[in-house]
Amino acid sequence: MNRYIGIDLGTSSVKLLLLSENGIEKTVGRDYPVSYPAPNYSEQNPADWYEQTVSALHELLEDTDRKSIKAIGFSGQMHGLVMLDRHDKVIRPAILWNDGRAVKEVDYLNNGIGKDFLLKHTGNIAFAGFTAPKLLWVKNNEPENFSRISKIMLPKDYLAYRLSGEFATDVSDASGTLYFDVSNRKWSEKMLEIIGIDREMLPVVYESREAVGNIKSELANAFGLNKDVKIVIGGGDNACAAVGTGVVSDGECNISLGTSGTIFVETSSHNYDKNSAIHAFCSASGKYHYLACILSAASCQKWWIENILNTDYDTGGMERYLGRNDVIFLPYLMGERSPINDPNAKALFYGMTLATTREQLSLAVLEGVAMAFRQNIEIIRSLGVNVTKSKICGGGAKNKLWLKIMASVLNIALEIPDSEQGGALGAALLAMNKPETAKRFYKTGEIVKPDKALAEYYNKKYKDFTDIQNKIL
Ligand code: XUL
Repeated sequence: MNRYIGIDLGTSSVKLLLLSENGIEKTVGRDYPVSYPAPNYSEQNPADWYEQTVSALHELLEDTDRKSIKAIGFSGQMHGLVMLDRHDKVIRPAILWNDGRAVKEVDYLNNGIGKDFLLKHTGNIAFAGFTAPKLLWVKNNEPENFSRISKIMLPKDYLAYRLSGEFATDVSDASGTLYFDVSNRKWSEKMLEIIGIDREMLPVVYESREAVGNIKSELANAFGLNKDVKIVIGGGDNACAAVGTGVVSDGECNISLGTSGTIFVETSSHNYDKNSAIHAFCSASGKYHYLACILSAASCQKWWIENILNTDYDTGGMERYLGRNDVIFLPYLMGERSPINDPNAKALFYGMTLATTREQLSLAVLEGVAMAFRQNIEIIRSLGVNVTKSKICGGGAKNKLWLKIMASVLNIALEIPDSEQGGALGAALLAMNKPETAKRFYKTGEIVKPDKALAEYYNKKYKDFTDIQNKIL
């Protein structure tokens, strides 16, 4: 029987999945740290990604017929800037998707170069998390590092490069660089000129399901794999999660309630709203998608429980305030990407009195994140996509109360998977070259529907949320 490996290079861990025609056979994972060397900075060491992936691969292959492995596919955290010198050495730690340092560079791109120009040539506007502003930041602040650049890569492409020696990327991940012409699925010469980089510094662009080469022969030997194991480039984590949850047809939606929050909506053509901060990217299934990214989602709850309450978490206590909680929370603990595009935005609690309880604040955190999702769903709806249901994944989707709140705030039915695989299943399906077959391997479990009365209450509360937002931003 043929087997395929999906590797999902996340922000806190790498997850590996073994897939055969019979289904998912095994998953393993390894953690690695993120460093925050200054406010708004977020970095990782690419060597950690590689070492932990190799270690996980050894575990994944234990007790497996190694000669049955046909291909390895990749999924990865998007937008991260990895730079190699001409000796293939990593020049500095990778600057990640949630790093907000490139404020001046975003201003230059959006207001100096201009949003119209950016939309025309890339289909998107600039955000601090995107790769182009980070490259400009390195150019402006670390000119010596900039002058040493020989190759520029995205996180998963670094892994594929170390495993295969092929300098490659895919259309979905390239879409998040802001030097990629999304509509035409190729690098934008105009943007390369503006940033001051050469075409040779960038990888060859493939569709996500394409094989870019084979595993290096010394690695094939070390792992006991055949030398013709294919390296399939795969896609950005959101695009791969969509493939893995079967979100591959026009208008279908996948929400991730993870560390960050994302809304992914598949579209058959490349459309964008000039005014909005919703991204319009290539998808891994050969089409396009809208993507909204909320920088702090489940991380708000983690922060609240671990850093602030620092005590046992009592969800029971919160439920009695459902539909009557006056406290509002704006979830901008790391600034915000979609739709307000403000790396300096700060989080806020509003509406407390002496009668306010800990449970109300806890509930407000969950509601505030749901409201941030709603703001993006409203924009996607205004673009003509009527989202009425969505798949939902990510750590936060294990919280039943949060799902009830999300369904009612968004007024959509949420479909929870039987087992959660993130981008790893999508990456394995791409390795199999069958991105449309997720429904064979992905089973929907419970469906959480909106509660009518709660949805009406949240319609009013959403207005208060946006009023406060307008006052402080
Ligand atoms: C999407 C984004 C995040 C990362 C997280 O634009 O920045 O979802 O891909 O891994």
